[in-house]
Amino acid sequence: MTNRDVFMNTYHRLPVTFVRGEGAWLWDVHGKKYLDFTAGIAVNCLGHGHPALVKAVADQSARLCHVSNYFQSDVTAAFAEKLVAACAPSGMRTVFLANSGAEANEGACKIARKYSLKKYGPGRHRIVTLKGSFHGRTVTTLSATGQEKFHQDFGPFTEGFIFVPPGDIDALDRALDAETTAGFLVEAVQGESGVIPQDPAYIEAAARFCAGRDILFMFDEVQCGIGRTGTFLGCEAYGVKPDIVTLAKGLAGGIPVGAVLAGEKAASVFQTGDHGSTFGGNPVTAAAALVVLETVNTPAFLSEIVRKGDKIQKAVRSWKHPRIREVRGRGLMIAVDLDAEAWPVIEAAVTGAGGGNRNAADRSNPGLLMLSAGPMTLRFLPPYIISDEEIDQGLGILKGLLG
Ligand SMILES: Cc1ncc(COP(=O)(O)O)c(C=O)c1O
Repeated sequence: MTNRDVFMNTYHRLPVTFVRGEGAWLWDVHGKKYLDFTAGIAVNCLGHGHPALVKAVADQSARLCHVSNYFQSDVTAAFAEKLVAACAPSGMRTVFLANSGAEANEGACKIARKYSLKKYGPGRHRIVTLKGSFHGRTVTTLSATGQEKFHQDFGPFTEGFIFVPPGDIDALDRALDAETTAGFLVEAVQGESGVIPQDPAYIEAAARFCAGRDILFMFDEVQCGIGRTGTFLGCEAYGVKPDIVTLAKGLAGGIPVGAVLAGEKAASVFQTGDHGSTFGGNPVTAAAALVVLETVNTPAFLSEIVRKGDKIQKAVRSWKHPRIREVRGRGLMIAVDLDAEAWPVIEAAVTGAGGGNRNAADRSNPGLLMLSAGPMTLRFLPPYIISDEEIDQGLGILKGLLG
């Protein structure tokens, strides 16, 4: 399909057109199948065509698609209650529903600034984030993103964001200045820059600094939340209670969604008219998200995520492959550092020898979908429902490609 001309040229799309999905598998227009180690970048957490999710979306679209936030919706209210309950162990009390990770993080920054302004007056609006972080593509969330490469061409940026190196407690201590700082925004596991879990001592220090200085402690859980790392929220692994948590991606299993949750301190910062989103909390999204929450947020399901993730890490380490430098991650969020560029391996798994779709013989070999996280790092974010056999099969394809 050559529809490239009509798109703005923002993505390096691989030459494969998907038409169908089931479980951990996708099929292209030629009928060739691909094992999905990406879940649409941590979105399709229950896999493709999950029967309960499909039914919930179909039933809800037939019943009521959209009403706007000037009215109430039974299913949106049920979703909000269930989501707040799922995040209550991390101290969350209220939620604002949006449509994407960037929009959720915008909401978080607005809450931090208003909280600080109302309590301390102007001049205390700074938000500290980490070098290597990724928080979104809007102008403000780009301003919050600690990676130079995203900053070219789009200034001037939203004022008041500063970046500190991850793990450096002294630098954080200096940056979290009580006179000027409203919030600290951090990913529990940095996804885009290489699947890097935060150091527990660093997060413990950050929690202490934020609480002592009345700076909002905010976790961006857009990629690592909703069970991805084996706990419902990634921050649970650190035993801290944030003031704000943002979610998106996997929350509705493939339907666009975003959420900003607030703990006691920030629960009522937003008042009528402060914030809004036409589609936020859309009933169809809510119906899908209810299925995700009911399915994922059980101890048995979460422990399977841990087991499958450990199985992948152990298997890849056991190869002792000369091209593999390091394997790391948490739950089903895994990085494999290579000795060279990751992109040719990703491309070959889709289009190259053994993964190609040029002729019938090629098409009978399954392909494998993987992501990168930095130039030399492969990233796996498979759907949680992937089976042990499928994991073995996917890793077999990868091993073949590494030679
Ligand atoms: C940690 C994190 N925050 C925010 C975002 C932005 O989310 P979205 O693309 O839904 O705006 C992403 C996307 O990859 C992310 O990984």
